[in-house]
Amino acid sequence: MNSMNDKIKALSNKKVWLAPLAGFTDRYYRQIAKQCGADVLVSEMVSADGLKHSVSKMKPYIEFYEHERPYGVQLFGDDPETMQIACEKTLDYFYSLKGKIREGALASSIPDFFDINMGCPVKKVVKRTAGSALMRVPELAEKIVKSVKKVCIEHDIPLTVKIRAGWDLESINCVEFAQMIEEAGADILAVHPRTRSQLFSGKSNWDLIRQVKEAVKIPVVGNGDINSSQDAFAMIEQTNCDSVMVGRGAIGNPWIFSEIKKGFNNEPYEELKPAGKLPTIIQHLDLIYGSEDPKKLYQIRSHLAHYTKGLLNSAKARSIIFQSLDYNEIRETLEGLFYEHS
Ligand SMILES: Cc1cc2nc3c(=O)[nH]c(=O)nc-3n(C[C@H](O)[C@H](O)[C@H](O)COP(=O)(O)O)c2cc1C
Repeated sequence: MNSMNDKIKALSNKKVWLAPLAGFTDRYYRQIAKQCGADVLVSEMVSADGLKHSVSKMKPYIEFYEHERPYGVQLFGDDPETMQIACEKTLDYFYSLKGKIREGALASSIPDFFDINMGCPVKKVVKRTAGSALMRVPELAEKIVKSVKKVCIEHDIPLTVKIRAGWDLESINCVEFAQMIEEAGADILAVHPRTRSQLFSGKSNWDLIRQVKEAVKIPVVGNGDINSSQDAFAMIEQTNCDSVMVGRGAIGNPWIFSEIKKGFNNEPYEELKPAGKLPTIIQHLDLIYGSEDPKKLYQIRSHLAHYTKGLLNSAKARSIIFQSLDYNEIRETLEGLFYEHS
């Protein structure tokens, strides 16, 4: 069995993470990202209250494929006890599957780590003191980390925490906050250096990642505005972060992971022509259609909008795709568009 140090290393030693992106990084897209080279995958944020109430209802958000490992479940919440129960119930659910062979290679043992969301800026999350609002109440954040850590220790899995720069430009506190989180028991910190009030506007302030890295001993994952392997290299150089996390730069472009990985290995990377991207896009489409989840059939449209962005004459193809739920029609439209560009 791997030691805790090995487990932490497997998540943080020059790794490329796919950022959690609600509405995008479900297990279908994660599978695509993994195949393209992402090292570490995280669920979309999952409500601790929801899990406490019914793990069964939250299954679509926590299930993962065995080959996604290392994979973590990200929780958001505002109550230490609820967060602890949510973790325990999640683990109980996966323990109950032990030894079962599951459809599509869905995992039948526990996730590799838990992640706590302390960065979400969305109103309905922050109005109840979850997500980035926790950065305004460090005492509560500390209690939450300690509660979740208890479960992580018992089950021998690492705990990661994802934070922002702070609440607003007047109250940037990520450095002290990171030290407190480390002290409370986090094993790895991911930092997206924008404030809550910035939402996703402007540029992330990478110097804050550098300052956090300097202030803590645990590994730091840098996040924010990585759109190419050059960006990943620049972030590591400027901040000394241990690993990088890519969010929006991976939407419509899972190939960014191979680009960054090849860069890390000093291997040349040749950008794929549109026709070379098509098999992966069709695979993504197939995974969604195979899921028979009506919500996903609509969600694939936002992925397809991103996949087709920037291609000449793509507006017409998009208008067909957006009006259709018919697999063959969508596939043929994509094939027409992508082959036209080869
Ligand atoms: C559509 C969308 C959904 C997101 N969902 C989550 C989430 O569920 N959990 C989380 O911690 N961050 C979430 N984020 C923030 C990202 O994980 C990431 O921190 C942010 O986008 C900055 O990284 P980037 O510049 O690489 O996109 C979301 C961001 C976007 C744009």
